[in-house]
Amino acid sequence: MNTVVVGTQWGDEGKARVVDFLAQEADAVVRFQGGSNAGHTVVVNGEKFIFHLVPCGILHLGTKCIIGNGLVVDPGELLMEMKTLQSKKITLKNLYLSSGAHVVMPYHRKIEEREENRRGRRKIGTTKRGIGPAYVDKTARRGIKIGDLLNKEILAEKLKMNLAFWKNSYELDFSEEDILKQYLEYGRKLRKYITDTSLLIHRLIEEGKNILFEGAQGTLLDIDHGTYPFVTSSSTIAAGACIGTGIGPRYIDEVLGVTKAYTTRVGKGPFPTEIKGEIGKILKERGKEYGATTGRPRRCGWLDAVILRYAVRVNGLDELILTKLDVLDTLDKIKICTAYKYKGKTVKNFPFQLNGWEECQPVYEEMEGWKENTSRLSAYKDLPYRAQLYLRKIEAIGGIPIRYLSLNPERTNIIKIS
Ligand code: IMO
Ligand code: MG
Repeated sequence: MNTVVVGTQWGDEGKARVVDFLAQEADAVVRFQGGSNAGHTVVVNGEKFIFHLVPCGILHLGTKCIIGNGLVVDPGELLMEMKTLQSKKITLKNLYLSSGAHVVMPYHRKIEEREENRRGRRKIGTTKRGIGPAYVDKTARRGIKIGDLLNKEILAEKLKMNLAFWKNSYELDFSEEDILKQYLEYGRKLRKYITDTSLLIHRLIEEGKNILFEGAQGTLLDIDHGTYPFVTSSSTIAAGACIGTGIGPRYIDEVLGVTKAYTTRVGKGPFPTEIKGEIGKILKERGKEYGATTGRPRRCGWLDAVILRYAVRVNGLDELILTKLDVLDTLDKIKICTAYKYKGKTVKNFPFQLNGWEECQPVYEEMEGWKENTSRLSAYKDLPYRAQLYLRKIEAIGGIPIRYLSLNPERTNIIKIS
C-alpha cells in the first residue's frame, strides 16, 4: 500500500504526528519535496523531536527513511540533524539520500535574504533556509546535486559556474575554495547514505512493501496551486510525490489530507479567515502556534472549507485526518467559512484566478462550542456531541470522510473514526 500524506492548508497541520503514527505500519517513509523549511514535530513520551530533512519514520526501528530527489538539501543542516538523532540513540542505518536531490549552497541563503529585502512590503516571509534560490538554480539548470558532492572535479566545475553566475548579480563575499572544501567534506560524511532512491523505492514496491510519502508544507503553499507568489518553491500537492521520488502515479494507492481543526499561516499572504482579535490569541496560545523552524508566531483563524474543498480536488484526497481539535475546547462559538463574498458575489470555489484576495470576506456558519476538555479522550464515542457535530460538518462540507482524529501532541492520541 502506497500512501501520500499532504497538508491541506498552509503547512503546520500536524503532518508529522500523523506520519509518525502511520509509520507504525510502513516499511518506508519518503520525503519528496521542500527542504529544511519544514519543521516536523513529534512528541514521544514527552520528548520532542523536530525534523527538517529526515523523514519522521526514523523513530521507528527498521523503517527505511528516504530523502527523495525532489528536495533541496542543505548538507550542513542534514548532518546536524543526524548528529542530534544519534545523540538521542536513534539509529541512522535505514537513512537513504537521493543522489539527485539538489544542494542548498551557503550563498543561497544570502541571496534569499537580499531578495526578501528588495521586495520591501511585498516580501514573502520565507523561512530563510535558501529554499527558493536553490530551486531557482535547479530550474535554471545550473544546480548542484547531492551526487556531485562525491566528485571533486565535477563539484569544482559546477560550483565555479554557479557562484560566478550569482556574483554577477549580487555582491557576494564567498570563497569558492572554502565552499569546495566544506562541501567535499559533507560529501565524504554523507557518502554511505547516498543512493539511487527511485530504484530503491521501486524495489520496495515490487516487494509489496508499505510506503508512506511524507509531504512538507501544505496545499496552499504549492508553487503552482497555492496562493502565489506567497508560496514555497516546490510541488507540495500529492502529485509532487511522484516527481520528487521517481515513481509513476499508478503506484499511489491513496492520498490522505491532514487538516488542522482551525487554520494557521506563517509568513505573508492571503488568509481570509484570519482572526486578529482575542480568539486568534487563544488559538495561538492553546495551540502553541509558533513556527518549529523559525519560532515566528503563526497567524491563526477559523477553518476554511473553501480551501478544504480545493485541497480535496487538487490532491485527489481520499480521506482526512483532523488534528488539534482539542485546541477549540474552550470556545463558546466555532465558525467554519463556507464561502467568500467578493464584490457582492458569493464565491464557493477557491478563487484561483483572483488577485483581489484582500477583498474576499469569509461567509461563516456558526456552531456551538462543546466547552469540555477533549485532549485525553481515546474513542470517538466519548467526544462531546457538539464536537462530533463539528466533525460531521467538516465531512459534509469537504465531501470526504475523516479517518483519524488527533488530539494532544502525544503520538498515542490518535483516534480512528471511519
Ligand atoms: P511544514 O512542513 C508552514 C512558508 C514560509 C513562507 C513560504 C515560503 O512544517 O508544514 P520558503 O522558506 O519555503 O521559501 O517560504 O512558505 N513555509 C511554511 N509554513 N510550514 C512549513 O513547513 C513551511 N515551509 C515554508 O513561512 O510563507
Ligand atoms: Mg512546520
